[in-house]
Order: sequence, then C-alpha cells, then structure tokens
Amino acid sequence: MPLTYASMRRAGTPLRLSAGAAAMLMFGVAGIHGNTATASDGAAERSVDRSAFGQLPDGRQVDVYRLANANGIEMRVIDYGGIILSLKTPDVRGEFDDIVLGFDSLDAYLSDAYRQANPYFGALIGRYGNRIAGGRFSLDGESHSLATNDGDNHLHGGQQGFDRVLWQVEPFESEAGTGLVLRYTSEDGEEGYPGTLETQVTYTLTDADELIVDYRATTDKATPVNLTQHSYFNLEGEGSGSILDHHLMIDADAFTPVDEGLIPTGEIRSVEGTPFDFTQPTPIGERIERDDQQLTFGKGYDHNFVLANGGASVDDPVLAARVWEPDSGRLLEIATTEPGIQFYSGNFLAGDLTGKRGEAYEHRSGFALETQHFPDSPNRADFPSTILEPGDTYRSRTIYRFSAQETPGS
Ligand code: BGC
Repeated sequence: MPLTYASMRRAGTPLRLSAGAAAMLMFGVAGIHGNTATASDGAAERSVDRSAFGQLPDGRQVDVYRLANANGIEMRVIDYGGIILSLKTPDVRGEFDDIVLGFDSLDAYLSDAYRQANPYFGALIGRYGNRIAGGRFSLDGESHSLATNDGDNHLHGGQQGFDRVLWQVEPFESEAGTGLVLRYTSEDGEEGYPGTLETQVTYTLTDADELIVDYRATTDKATPVNLTQHSYFNLEGEGSGSILDHHLMIDADAFTPVDEGLIPTGEIRSVEGTPFDFTQPTPIGERIERDDQQLTFGKGYDHNFVLANGGASVDDPVLAARVWEPDSGRLLEIATTEPGIQFYSGNFLAGDLTGKRGEAYEHRSGFALETQHFPDSPNRADFPSTILEPGDTYRSRTIYRFSAQETPGS
C-alpha cells in the first residue's frame, strides 16, 4: 500500500523544544525608535542598534541591525531580503564564532557572481519556498503562470522574490529579548501570484539563546504561501570548510522523492534503509556519496523531509532537527510548526563566493534546513495545502536554539 502524508505522521505527544518561546511573541511590542537601546538584565548587555549598510542601485538605503542577547549572542540583519548576515554563538569553550554564511558588504549580495550562483544566503524566502513545477498551478479553476528562474521551474519566489526586496523594519525589545518586525506588501500579480499579500516576519533573539522566526500573512485573493528562512550554517564557523562531519538528526520517517528537476514525484517514501534515514544522529557525509538515484538527482541532499510530528499546531513548534559539530561542540536545534523541512547540503556551492573571513565557500561548506510546506504543493492535492484564503491569516513559527556540548547527545 503506498504511503500517504497522513499515514507518515506519528501519533503521540510532540517533542517540544522549549517552553521559553511559547507565550511571549506579541506583535507590536514597544518599538525602539532611536538608533540604539540597551538593557542589562543578564551578564552581557542586551542591545539592538541600526546603521547604514549600503545603497541599492535605485538609491534606496539599506540598513543593518545588530541584535545582541544577555549572553553575548549577536546577530546582524539587513532590511534588504531580511538577510541574516552574521550570527555569533559560543562553542563548548565559550569562544564565539560566526556560524552563518554571508557577506560584509551589500555589493557582494548584489553582484553578478552572486546572482548567478543564487544561493539565497540568510534570506527570507517568499512567496513560495522551493519549487513550483513549470511555474504553473491552477486555483479555483483559473490557471496561473509564475516567473521561472530555475530552468522551467519557479524557485523561492521567482526572479524578484522576498530575498531581493526592501522590507520595512521596526526593532523592538520585549521581555524575551530583542527583535525586528519586518513588513513587506507584495502586490497583486507580483511574480505571477494572485492577490495582494501583506507579509510580516518577526525575528526575536531571546535570552534563552533562541532565534524565533514568526511569519504572518494575509491576502485579498486566494493564493499559495510558503515562507521560510534560508540561512546556511556551518557550526564550526563560516568559511571553516566542509559540513560533512556535522551530525544530523531529522525527526522524519519519510521524505518526498524528486525527479531530475528536483520536483516531487508525489510519492511519500519511507527513509528506512536509505541514506535519508536521519532518525538517529548521523554524520552528513557518511552516506552522501552512495550510489542512490535520489542523491544523484539532488547532487547530494536537497530533499523535503516529512516531519513525524510536524504541522500539528500553528502555535506549538515541535523539534524537527538537531545538528551537532564535533570540534566546536555547537548544537543547533530547530523546532517548527511546519509539516516539512528541506535539508540542503550546500551541493551547489562551488568556491566562487568569498565569505566574511576571506575564505571561499567551497562545495558543501554550509547546509540549510528550511522549515516549510512541501515543494510543489499547489500542484499536489494530497500534500498539506499552502493556499491562503482572504480573511484567514497565514501563521508559522520556527525556533532555532543554540547551545554547545561535548558529545552529540541523542
Ligand atoms: C533548494 C536548492 C537550491 C538552494 C539554493 C534550496 O532550498 O532546495 O535546490 O539550489 O536552495 O537556491
């Protein structure tokens, strides 16, 4: 009997990542209107400040926001693409390093080389994370054509996705930590999508060493929405080589196999006995070179995993993945309200982009774990729906928790 989405979700109590995050995210928390604000509840100074980062070709200014929590974790974000430029967290010895791939100048994000490689480092992705086959879908009997930017397919929102627009940003400080509310209005017809989409994403850096990403959207016409965050991590530090020794656990008993164009075939396949079984922590590189058709199509891992406890609630993120790096001891835990997670092992990185510490980003020197609905859902009635209706509010939450420990744990 073929597997179905419903049959692959495990029954039982979801694994919760953290209670800390649950109640606190209220939008519109006291905004910070000056350039800097600090509070000193913990050992380090909590702060959020803003400065100029660069200028877009049309003259609009791009700002960079620096957020810090009470434990010294620091994150920098620009309003262009909502891009997370840097994220410094401590290793097991207490040494801080920047664990996300990215650049220190706006020009690097705007360069032809970057556009060509199209890695979406650290960016917000919209309106639709991952691919829509042929850039086409039908909704309520009407067919829609989207901008194509990945051969014949539509990828990560098209030619001018949310990664390339200027967001309105409002910094805030709340009981939980410091953060940014980012807003963007996507006009009716943008990249081919129906409806005006009012989008709001909140980044909160908490004193529990979590980055909480909250997504909200409303529309005036039915339209697909699937927002995500495209940070690439290297827990040893960006620019420090391959991620193949990182131990990965994904709480998924199944994945969605793809064709050569990385479009889901519609099958929900069990991970058992395949290189896609990450139910126990396993080094990313252990099976990546196996002779396996799915690994060949993905040029490594580039697949959507069906989260065992995913998609249950829009309020309560459940643990989806854990990644541990042996040299630094850094541990990243990801919890989400989404039903899927795209594990991408940086297969298209080719050493032609140079990062913040002056090192080229070589093949598989960063990985992304993108919480999401499944790719191509607008063309797959049996996948969880991505259609947002007027009057409804799209809501999604993902929590990244940073810590460090000597052993991989379980
Ligand atoms: C996709 C990859 C793509 C990468 C960068 C990932 O989310 O699954 O196929 O190459 O993003 O664009």
